[in-house]
Order: sequence, then C-alpha cells, then structure tokens
Amino acid sequence: MNLTLKIWRQKNAQDKGKLVDYKVTDISEHMSFLEMMDVLNEELVNKGDEPIAFDHDCREGICGMCSLYINGEAHGPDREITTCQLHMRTFKDGDTIYIEPFRAKAFPVIKDLVVDRMAFERIQQAGGYISINTSGNTQDANAIPISKHNADMSMDAAACIGCGACVASCKNSSAMLFVAAKVSQFALLPQGQVEAADRVLNMVKQMDDEGFGNCTNTGACEIECPKGISLDNIARMNREYMKASI
Ligand code: SF4
Ligand code: FES
Repeated sequence: MNLTLKIWRQKNAQDKGKLVDYKVTDISEHMSFLEMMDVLNEELVNKGDEPIAFDHDCREGICGMCSLYINGEAHGPDREITTCQLHMRTFKDGDTIYIEPFRAKAFPVIKDLVVDRMAFERIQQAGGYISINTSGNTQDANAIPISKHNADMSMDAAACIGCGACVASCKNSSAMLFVAAKVSQFALLPQGQVEAADRVLNMVKQMDDEGFGNCTNTGACEIECPKGISLDNIARMNREYMKASI
C-alpha cells in the first residue's frame, strides 16, 4: 500500500505544533500500525531528519503506553484494541491517515505524539492500592470467599491498562472511566473495604485537582476504551463516593 500520513509534529511543550505530510510506500497489510511508523522513522533517520516521537512498550495490548488519535479516534477505527494491536489491513491503498496525540489539558504534549500521562499515576498514588501486611503472616487468599459474580466484575474493572483513551475521546476530557475502573476493582472485593472511603474521596479529589473535566454521560469513553471498561463502573464509583461523603 502507498499512503499519505498527516502527522502532528511538535518540538516541545512550548512549540505550537502542526500537521506535516509524509508519504510511505510498499506498506504490507500484515504490518502493525506501529511497524508502519517504524518504517517511516527509519526513512527519516536515513535522510538525517528527526524521527517522529511516539509512545510504545509491550506492543501486545498490555502496558497502556501506546496512544495516538488515528483518523479522529483514540487507538484508531477498530474496537477494543490498542494502537499496537491495530493492523494495516484496516486501511486501503491510497488512504490519507491523520495521526495526532491524545489531547487533554491534563495530558500536555511533550513532543510530537507523546503526551505526559503522569496525572494518572498521581491519581493511582492517591488511593489505587490496598495496604496488606506481607511480612510473613499473609492470609491465604482462599480464606475469604468471594462470589463469582463480584470476582468477575472486579477482574473486568482491573483490565484497565491506564492508556488514557477515555480522556482523549471525551468532549470534557473526563477521567471518570479510568478512576471508576480503579475504584471498582477494589470496591467489589472484601480486601478493598478497609480503605474504601478514603480511596474514593482521595482519588476523585486528585482527579479534579489534575484538571480533568466532568462526566456528562455521553459514553464516548466506553466506545473507545480498548479494554471494554463499562460505564457501570462510573455508576458504582458515584455510589461509593456518596456513601463515603455521608
Ligand atoms: S478505562 Fe479504558 S480507555 Fe480509560 S485508561 Fe482504562 S483502558 Fe484506557
Ligand atoms: S504498546 Fe503496550 S499496550 Fe500498546
């Protein structure tokens, strides 16, 4: 395939940035989207040009590092996959593809397609954990029976990889789906009850402090989430927040 790419280039956080046109040729439909980006970068390096900065790590849908807004959608046009799982067979010969960074006030652009998602780390640090004594007297996991239904829902919430596609897809740049997933995975388990009230109050406060917007129930986050995190988690977080506030 021969393709035209319109890619966001931005030298640093202060630079205004702009879309720049690139041509790539002989792209195999079996390549992943990031491999196609690698081919372009190799050509740029060979010509002595600056390669395009973009985030990636595991390249198998696990780590949440890859981002990219592709043709106006976080992680591209396919559903429930990350950018690293997107393949070039999704596109046609002659296509023009727009590639931009995830955009949100709380995710400032560092360079080109790389944004700073440390706001998510700070929300996690505010309460996304349980405190367990692991110094030799750890309780056997099977000592506390958990219903299959709750265990399944907790596992579904724990599938969130913290990629930030929910924020990038939301017209308000809301982080509610991410925070709700992190709150829900513990709210559904007995082990999460000890710190439940502090957890939800502190994580929501940190989310607001970081400058994420409010949720207006549009649901774009759920549609674009690569891990299928359900809006039900937001309802659960709101209930947890009300309980903790009272
Ligand atoms: S909720 Fe989905 S879109 Fe949001 S950070 Fe988690 S995995 Fe990514
Ligand atoms: S690079 Fe790890 S999820 Fe895409």
